[in-house]
Amino acid sequence: MSSPREMSVLDVVPVMPVVVVDSATDAVSIAKALVAGGLPAIELTLRTPAALDAIRAIVDEVPGILVGAGTIVKPGQAKLAMGAGAQFLVSPGVTGSMLHAMQDTGLPFLPGTATVSEAMAALEAGITELKFFPAEASGGVAFLKAIASPVPAARFCPTGGITAASAPSYLALPNVGCVGGSWLTPADAVASGDWDRITTLAAEAAALVP
Ligand code: 3PG
Repeated sequence: MSSPREMSVLDVVPVMPVVVVDSATDAVSIAKALVAGGLPAIELTLRTPAALDAIRAIVDEVPGILVGAGTIVKPGQAKLAMGAGAQFLVSPGVTGSMLHAMQDTGLPFLPGTATVSEAMAALEAGITELKFFPAEASGGVAFLKAIASPVPAARFCPTGGITAASAPSYLALPNVGCVGGSWLTPADAVASGDWDRITTLAAEAAALVP
């Protein structure tokens, strides 16, 4: 069995649900709805006070889902997320201290990159799986196509502005493992507890790659 660091976050699901929650209870319902739709992974963003509790609750109550912590923007958050039970880490950008903090956890992680130089710096540090963020604002599919040949070792999870309609063109690229997005968990569906809608959106996303 591979160690956590060797696990490929990019190969678990074709679409990584990027989720913002205000309560751990909502997080558990969302996670269950995603699993029911065939997407057994979630990137829970550390953008709300409820985020760490939400990670703990999903780990406790939703078996079989891979739980990651996203929006890690300060080095100290890497350890906090691991303590809450996160199984992988995602950051929107990358600095030297962030890279070290994420490496220190021993967890797999996706550092955010938006330029060739940032991707090269991550590769120099031995990291080949990267987040490409903000994807649409940073050149989208055309950017990833252009760097596939000069920077072939980098594989990406593009996120930021991607939709159900644009996801297939990203997933068709050789240097894309999965895409990420918040479209699977619309705010109105969460507010009204429409978990079936989230399951439907997850099932559509899961079907993007046979
Ligand atoms: C992220 O952190 O990856 C993004 O906020 C997701 O972007 P989206 O909300 O445009 O899907």
